[in-house]
Order: sequence, then structure tokens, then C-alpha cells
Amino acid sequence: MTQVRVPAFAKLNLDLRVLYKRPDGYHELRSVFQTISLADRIQLRFARTRRTEIRIAGNVDIPDNLIVRAAHAVLEELRISAAVEFALAKRIPMGAGLGGGSSDAAAVLLSLPTLVGKRLAGKRIAPQRLMQMAAQLGSDVPFFLVGGTAAVLGRGEELYPLEDLRAPHVLLVAPGIHVSTPDAYRALSARLTPTSAAAKLSGFQSLLWTGSHTETVSDGVNDFEDVVFEHHPRLRTIRNQLRRAGATTAMMTGSGSTIFGIFPDLASLNAAKARFHPAQVHAVRFVTRTAYRATWNRALAAAVEKP
Ligand code: C5P
Repeated sequence: MTQVRVPAFAKLNLDLRVLYKRPDGYHELRSVFQTISLADRIQLRFARTRRTEIRIAGNVDIPDNLIVRAAHAVLEELRISAAVEFALAKRIPMGAGLGGGSSDAAAVLLSLPTLVGKRLAGKRIAPQRLMQMAAQLGSDVPFFLVGGTAAVLGRGEELYPLEDLRAPHVLLVAPGIHVSTPDAYRALSARLTPTSAAAKLSGFQSLLWTGSHTETVSDGVNDFEDVVFEHHPRLRTIRNQLRRAGATTAMMTGSGSTIFGIFPDLASLNAAKARFHPAQVHAVRFVTRTAYRATWNRALAAAVEKP
């Protein structure tokens, strides 16, 4: 049996523009994704068996779990049967716009082939194929193969690394409001026009252009805010509270419901944090692509054989 423990980091959308609904039913996006230090922990165990069996233990019970689907995809791609056991310590709030489920799936794509490769030399998945498998699992999954700061286009599967951004004092407020992503897309879709798409495209390009020499993204927008805030006015209140508390940027991530604030120093972050219920706030920092990769390499290098 081979075993490894890996992290699955959460993400924020520093910018998220929805242009139009495509013929395939998905929406065409322009976004900036950023990994942050909040992470689930996943332990994987792998053993060769005649019949594939995938089991998951942990503090959550998610139907149609992306972790299990990712594991099946890897085993099928490598054409092997195996017993794979997962233990999941879930820390990223679910359905909160933080990409937790997608990151867990990417973590399996990044780690299970390594475990298999330790036992069966030559069993590999090429990076390009891994990207395709990630996109099949979900629109946000490919980003988590790369991490750091990235421009994300298409339905989410087309991504381009950007220069590292640093933000050591970021506060997440996750108020436990569940927003259905398909519902949020439907509500937003009804308001999209060709004129709004053109304006969003040029806005996104100018954001990347100006952002590339300031090391910050401070003019980001999230198109979901208006439609989601109409149903959940408390989220707007939280965003405004963070702004009043000194956040230089305060906005929603994904289709919600987490609101994040970027603070200039630890003192102002702590003052803002004290205004919310302790169970609903997380102080985090950005994780750069270099740090993301280094953390992953360390975790995978520590994979061990167990009798
Ligand atoms: O790709 P994923 O399964 O994560 O997407 C979940 C849902 O979000 C889709 O079924 C679709 O309704 C919506 N979606 C979309 N456009 C995107 C990404 C997701 O409409 N670019």
C-alpha cells in the first residue's frame, strides 16, 4: 500500500465577468483566479486489487463526490484496478464560491498518478491529458492543477498564468448562505446583452494591463454580486462593512456566498474580524504559484510505502 497526505487549497475570484450564454449551455467567462491559504487536507491510500473499490471517510458526506469521480477517471486512464481510500478533513466551506470541491478533485488528479507510478513504473498521465480530465470534472478544476494567480477564460478551462500577487491580510466572511450556481447563472443570463459583453471584454483587458505593473488587483468586479445580493441583502451589508473597516478591496467570490476583504495590515484585519461571528471568518493569505508548486512537490515527495 502507498500513502500520501496532500493539501487542496481554496480560491478567490479577484475578478469575474460573465459575457454571454454559449450554445453548449455554459457561460463564456473572463476571470482572475487566486489560490489562498485555506485548505482541505486529503490522505490517499492506494493498493493494487483485482476489483476497483474507492472509499472516502471524513467529516463530510457529499453526494456525487468529485473526489470519487476524479479517482475513477485516473484509474480508467491508467487502465488499472485498485483500492483507493481517502480521508478528507474538510475546512473549506462548501457551496461558498471558494472552489473547495473542484480543488479536492484536482488534488486527486495531481496525487493519485504519483502513487500509482511508485508501484508501477511507466504509468503516467501527460499534463495535457490531465488538463482535459480536469475540465471534464468541472469548469473550475483545471485552475487547481496550476494554482497561484491566473487569467481564466472560456467556460473556465482555458487558463493563463499571471504574475504573482501578494496579499498577506485577507479576511473571508462565509455567512453560511447557500447559493445555487446554476440558479445564479440563470438569473444573470437574463440580463446579458451584446453591448454589455463588449464593455466587459475591454474592462477585463484593461484590468490585466494595469494590474500587471501594480502587483495588485484593486479594480476587480464580480458580475454575480447584483443578482445574488438581490436575494441575499445581508451579503451586500457584509461587503460594505468590510469596506468601512478599511478593506482596500471587498467583494464576493464566485457565485457566492463568501465575501472577502483585502486589508493593508494585520491590525485593520483583526478589527474587522472581531465584528463577525468567529465561526464565519477565516484570515488567509494569497498562495503564489511558486508556493503552490513547492507545497505540492513537498507533499508528493513524502509519499510512503506501507507494508
Ligand atoms: O462545470 P461545473 O459542473 O462546475 O458547472 C456547474 C454549473 O454552473 C453548470 O451546470 C452551469 O449551469 C453553470 N456554469 C455555466 N457556465 C460556466 C460554468 C458553470 O453556466 N462557465
